[in-house]
Amino acid sequence: MASFEETIMKKVGVLTGGGDCPGLNSVIRAVVRYADKEGYKVVGVKNGWKGMIENDTIDMDINSVSGILPKGGTILGTSRTNPYKKEGQVEKVKANFKKMGLEALIAIGGEDTLGVASKLCKEGLNVVGAPKTIDNDLSGTDVTFGFDTAINIATEAIDRLHTTAESHHRAMVVEVMGRHAGWIATEAGLAGGADVILIPELPIDIEEVCELLKKRHARGKSFSIIVVAEGAKFKEGKLVKQEEKLDAFGHIRLGGIGHRLGEEIEKRAKIETRVTVLGHLQRGGTPTAFDRVLGTRFGIKAMELVLNKDYGKMAALDGNKVTAVPLEDAVSKLKTVDMELYNIAKIFFG
Ligand code: F6P
Repeated sequence: MASFEETIMKKVGVLTGGGDCPGLNSVIRAVVRYADKEGYKVVGVKNGWKGMIENDTIDMDINSVSGILPKGGTILGTSRTNPYKKEGQVEKVKANFKKMGLEALIAIGGEDTLGVASKLCKEGLNVVGAPKTIDNDLSGTDVTFGFDTAINIATEAIDRLHTTAESHHRAMVVEVMGRHAGWIATEAGLAGGADVILIPELPIDIEEVCELLKKRHARGKSFSIIVVAEGAKFKEGKLVKQEEKLDAFGHIRLGGIGHRLGEEIEKRAKIETRVTVLGHLQRGGTPTAFDRVLGTRFGIKAMELVLNKDYGKMAALDGNKVTAVPLEDAVSKLKTVDMELYNIAKIFFG
């Protein structure tokens, strides 16, 4: 017979924090289904760390996760709330953790959400993580879920822009997300056959870009596709932001480099140019099969970490294997673009 302590402690919490991303629901579903098999109750914490501060939860069972695999976003809601930002909120998180009767909490998120998870763990809470972000910029894992869907959306957009670019003999600039890493730009650009790809890791040399485009036009190609990451900046230039305000994690809202670049191309290379900003389209809608499978594997691994009381870790992909890495390692440094991959894309420039 289970001890009194075991009976009251078999409860796990799950939350999703930060920007939403396709595949979040597959992680939640995997956690709930596996937890149910192991005799755990699941508490869904609403809107990321905000729900932990406000004790805003819903009880979950296998019926609450039925039919959610193809759904984008997160059924739990999300926020960019950072409990370390305001005095007294971490204490509230700790008190509510106790009040909810949690044995452990599974935090599904990127650098910010998992950064909080890592700190809370050091302060004694039993937390594990699952890595999400369309940006693919988390260390410790080869890939994050959500990235595959984002690059497929961006690739489709590039494919569609090709036909109109060709008909009108224009240059088309496509601005993609990715914050301070150029993963989406590099992989979608490579898959879509972009003629130039510009990423935050390498400052933009506008002269070089225009030269490439002019050469391409000179060899009879009267259209071009330029993919630019939102975090890319001109040599000696600044990041292009949408507003000055910082979020609770100190991030600025990026966006606008596409239009700046388009103006420069038109002015310097004398090529008619149009700009498309993909924005949140890259985050919305149904996840790819890859992201559903990866999210499911991460959810199962996160729950396995809870069962093994192996706290302070994050599920991760290493080659084809799902492993676990310390949360601290995952959030200590941004994973920027693999230059070997970028150099392959570069062979196709111009
Ligand atoms: O981190 C994911 C991401 O989509 C980034 O690529 C982008 O810069 C940011 O979130 C946008 O955030 P928000 O949804 O708050 O506008």
